Amino acid sequence: MAYKIGIIGVGNISLEHIQAYLANPETELYAFCDINKERLNYMGKKYGVTRLYTNLDEMLALDELDAVSVCTWNNGHAPATIAALKAGKHVLCEKPMALNAKEAEEMKKTAEECGKLLMIGFVRRHGNDCKLVKQFIDTDYFGELYYAKATYLRRHGNPGGWFADVTRSGGGPLIDLGVHVIDLVRYLLGGSKPVSVYGATFRKLGDRPGVARNPGAYRSAGATDNDPVTVEDLASAMIRFDNGAVLHIEAAFDLNLKKDEGKIELFGTKGGAKLDPELEMYTTVNGYMADVNLTYPTALSFNGLFQNEINHFIDCISGRTECIAPAEDGVVLMKILDAIYRSAEIGHEVVIEY
Ligand SMILES: NC(=O)c1ccc[n+]([C@@H]2O[C@H](COP(=O)([O-])OP(=O)(O)OC[C@H]3O[C@@H](n4cnc5c(N)ncnc54)[C@H](O)[C@@H]3O)[C@@H](O)[C@H]2O)c1
Repeated sequence: MAYKIGIIGVGNISLEHIQAYLANPETELYAFCDINKERLNYMGKKYGVTRLYTNLDEMLALDELDAVSVCTWNNGHAPATIAALKAGKHVLCEKPMALNAKEAEEMKKTAEECGKLLMIGFVRRHGNDCKLVKQFIDTDYFGELYYAKATYLRRHGNPGGWFADVTRSGGGPLIDLGVHVIDLVRYLLGGSKPVSVYGATFRKLGDRPGVARNPGAYRSAGATDNDPVTVEDLASAMIRFDNGAVLHIEAAFDLNLKKDEGKIELFGTKGGAKLDPELEMYTTVNGYMADVNLTYPTALSFNGLFQNEINHFIDCISGRTECIAPAEDGVVLMKILDAIYRSAEIGHEVVIEY
C-alpha cells in the first residue's frame, strides 16, 4: 500500500518533490494545495491530481493522507507544518525551516507532541558528494577540522518576487542560499553546536533595476524589475562552534564580482577539501603537498539530491532508518541565522542562547 502524499505550495520547487515522489514506488501523489488557484489547476492537470485545495484545512481533513511536503514561501512553512502535524501527517518542510528560531521551536514541539516526523529539506545532506566526504571525515582523513569557508555568491541573481520581500522570505541570500551551505558544513563538522556569531549584511545594490540579467538567471514566477527589495543583497559572517571550529560564510544575490561562485572548503590538520562543483581533496604524501582527485563514477557526484531526500523521507516514515535532517537541526540553523541578522543590526558579536 502506497503512502498518500499531499503537496502544499505547488510552485517551482514542488516540481522536484513531485518528480521524486512519482519515481518512488512507495508513494502516491494524492492531493495538492496552493493559494494560487490558477497555478493549482495547472499543476493538477499536469500531474493528473484531482484533489485540489486552496484551503489547507480541507486538504488536511483527508484522513487517508499520510504525509505532506511543505513547499510554500518561507512565511507559510510554520503555519502549514503545524497544521499538518496536528492533522496527523508526517511533514517534509522545505528550507529554511521557518522565518526565525521561535517559529522553528514551535514546529519542533508540535511534531514531538503529535508523534509525527518533521524532516527539514536540507537537500545538500543527501548529495553523493556529501556522503563521500563524510566517509573521509569519519575515517579521520582530514584530522581535526578547525576552519571552513562557505561561499554562495551571485553577481546579479536576486530572484525578485517573494524572495525580495522580507515579510514572506524572512531575509535575502543568507536565509535563502546561506542556509544550504551553513547547514552542510555544520553537518560535516559532526553537528557541532554554534556558540556565537559575528555578522554583517548589506543593502547596497537591490535588484539593480535596468541592468540586464544573464539569460539563465533564476527569477521567481511573476517577479518584475520594479518589485520592492526589502532584503539584504550580501551577508558575511563568522560562526564559532563549541569545539573551537570556525565557519566563514558569504552569501549574495548581487555583488560586483566576476562570476557566480558556490563552494564549500574544509580545512583540517591532516588535509582539506573543496566541494562544488567537484570534490577535491588536499593532503601531504611522503613529504610533498598533493591534490587528490577521486576518479569516482559520475553517479556519485552532485546529482540525485531531491530523489535521495524524498526516498530518505519515506524510509524514515516507514521506520527503516533514522532521519538525518531532523527538526532539531532546523532549529539550530534558525538560531544561527537569527544571530547573524541580529549581529548585523547591532554591530557586534551575538552569543547564541539555548
Ligand atoms: N531546496 C532547495 O534547493 C530549494 C530551491 C528553491 C526553493 N526552495 C524553497 O522552496 C520554497 C518555495 O520556493 P519556490 O521557489 O518553489 O517558490 P514559488 O513561488 O515558485 O512557489 C511557492 C508556491 O507556494 C504557494 N503558496 C505560498 N504560500 C502558500 C500557503 N500559505 N499555502 C499554500 N500555498 C502557498 C504560492 O502560490 C506558489 O505557488 C521556499 O521555502 C524556498 O526557500 C528550496
